[in-house]
Amino acid sequence: EITINNKLYPVDVSPRLLLVDFLREHIHLTGTHIGCDTSQCGACMVFLNDKCVKSCSILLAQCDNKKVKTIESIGSREKLHKVQEAFREHHGLQCGFCTPGIIMSALEMKKKNIKKEKDIRKFLDGNLCRCTGYHNVVKSISSYINND
Ligand code: FES
Ligand code: FES
Repeated sequence: EITINNKLYPVDVSPRLLLVDFLREHIHLTGTHIGCDTSQCGACMVFLNDKCVKSCSILLAQCDNKKVKTIESIGSREKLHKVQEAFREHHGLQCGFCTPGIIMSALEMKKKNIKKEKDIRKFLDGNLCRCTGYHNVVKSISSYINND
């Protein structure tokens, strides 16, 4: 059993199935992206028992009786989460492919009380973005963390 975004899923699947593939292909939560499949890009980040992880490097079998939170549980179309508002305000994305993973990292940084720009940049080491040059991403995260 696995709880995803507060919903319980009884699952019976191959023990080799990756968490990211279960999310995208079995329960159609496609906001979690696959950018590399080799644990480098961070597009697949989710929370597993409140810890930010790369879901392409986690087997579903490792999630038994655990809780997963995906980007779909952050804000809504009607009411954006504050981190999403900050990205909108500071133009923190272009194509948006990396954004779900970066939003998860931003939430983790807030939890860890990471506030300085140099520390935000260092934390973002695990999130690759091909569009933005990171400047506005860092601005967005900094605004979310320091003004919330
Ligand atoms: Fe998981 Fe790139 S798809 S880190
Ligand atoms: Fe396009 Fe980051 S906004 S990859």
